Amino acid sequence: MTTLRPATANVVWHRATVTRTRREAQNGHRGAILWFTGLSGSGKSTLAHAVEEALHQRGCRTFVLDGDNVRHGLCGDLGFSAKDRQENIRRIGEMAKIFMEAGVIVLTAFISPYRADRERVRGIVEHGDFIEIYCDTPIEICESRDVKGLYKKARAGQLAEFTGITSPYEVPGNCELTVQTGIAELDVCVQQVVGKMMQRGIINAANFSHQSCKKA
Ligand code: ADX
Repeated sequence: MTTLRPATANVVWHRATVTRTRREAQNGHRGAILWFTGLSGSGKSTLAHAVEEALHQRGCRTFVLDGDNVRHGLCGDLGFSAKDRQENIRRIGEMAKIFMEAGVIVLTAFISPYRADRERVRGIVEHGDFIEIYCDTPIEICESRDVKGLYKKARAGQLAEFTGITSPYEVPGNCELTVQTGIAELDVCVQQVVGKMMQRGIINAANFSHQSCKKA
């Protein structure tokens, strides 16, 4: 695992006695990062929240980190240049890792257009902790939805560096799951994500089917 070294000297890592393993045992499921990536309007947030709803109803500890929300606070100083997006994803990655170590299933919904930025996050956690989910909605569909009116602005030249129009989106090469969020029903996509989580041992199939992630 690679992680940034502190910029200042004399900072020493303090080990908690309440470990991730103990938290996970208490929760009855593993912590993990479900990293949803895709164009603006591809359905990342909708799917992340629907998966969270399904997990929460079964007693799992979850939290959604959402691009637009995080840019109101923690990343409010960042724009949409490649450098700023890189820093955005770095901060989100570190935050997601903290949530995961707290035993939480963290679901992130960021465009995260650069493969290298996503891979950097994958690299700061253990193998199996990072589940990359590509919301594969073609730009024509995202643009026709245009919920926020941003595609229209970008086409009119009123919004610079807009992903898919004047800024790139690099399709994942080795993601864990691709969901057809442009055409498939939301429930079907949720089931695909839940299925992948069971396959990876993040949640327990038996407990999930008994309406709770918690062990008896
Ligand atoms: S990322 O590229 O750094 O991962 P992030 O997911 O945080 O982006 O933010 C994307 C959201 O910001 C979009 O859903 C959209 O609502 C808004 N936005 C505003 N300007 C842009 C832009 N130039 N490119 C993409 N999204 C933008």
